[in-house]
Amino acid sequence: MTNVVLEGFDLVKRFGSTVALDGVGLAVGRGEAVAIMGPSGSGKSTLLHCLAGITRPDTGEVRLLGQRVDAMGERQRSALRRTRFGFVFQFGQLLPELPAEENVALPLMLGGVSRGEAVRRARGWFGPLGLGGMEGRRPGELSGGQAQRVAIARALVTRPAVVFADEPTGALDQTTGHDTMRLLVEATRGNDASLVVVTHDPQVARWCDRTVEVRDGRVLPGTGRGMAAGPYSGHDVQGHSGHDVQGRPGHDGPGSLTRILPGGNG
Ligand SMILES: Nc1ncnc2c1ncn2[C@@H]1O[C@H](COP(=O)(O)OP(=O)(O)O)[C@@H](O)[C@H]1O
Ligand SMILES: [Mg+2]
Repeated sequence: MTNVVLEGFDLVKRFGSTVALDGVGLAVGRGEAVAIMGPSGSGKSTLLHCLAGITRPDTGEVRLLGQRVDAMGERQRSALRRTRFGFVFQFGQLLPELPAEENVALPLMLGGVSRGEAVRRARGWFGPLGLGGMEGRRPGELSGGQAQRVAIARALVTRPAVVFADEPTGALDQTTGHDTMRLLVEATRGNDASLVVVTHDPQVARWCDRTVEVRDGRVLPGTGRGMAAGPYSGHDVQGHSGHDVQGRPGHDGPGSLTRILPGGNG
């Protein structure tokens, strides 16, 4: 497979006597959206954390575009998470003191972009995500769905190769959850990023290209490595440079999001 962006091989992770991952393999294609499903405690979050370089597996390998993530030291993995990955968690984890636009700008500022430029780029995401006019609101002044859309903007603003989301709609009502999930899938796809999303909701999983079923630290046969045909097919990861594939102008804005997402207040 030439279009694999992220790949885990035979991942094992124990916590004391608990075997959280018991030999998991998973390949994620460029631009592919993969849903990870399974009962509570089956190892979904541990798998996501290993793939994202948050947790180091006991054995096995994780590769991003061929590069060994599991072999990197903490500093290098931290830099990788900041530059190549984006994250959306269940409760958004926005900083309550900062206006929404600064929450979105933060990953850019951490990467050395000036505050003014980072906020300018951050603002470009609000309209396409249906957040126009909310740039100055603090997280406490946003609804749950709005806060998650801010978190989606924050995850994408650095133009990551992969976005990881752990039950991003778990705290939302069903309708808001579905709207948010659709935006997450479309926004990652529209920006040429892959998506790995943990969810309990089969309705949510249908927005993705493929569902991987996890049970007791293992991936159910046939769900881990194959990649469904999808919009990522035919791309060549060797040509994936992360930041400059969108073309100009607008390389630092929300890319084709403006074409594929509705405006308005959603
Ligand atoms: N930091 C940890 N310390 C100890 N046990 C853990 C830790 N993280 C996860 N586990 C255990 O590993 C198993 C898988 O957990 P997790 O990956 O969080 O499952 P899921 O996300 O599918 O609910 C569970 O039995 C859980 O209790
Ligand atoms: Mg979990």
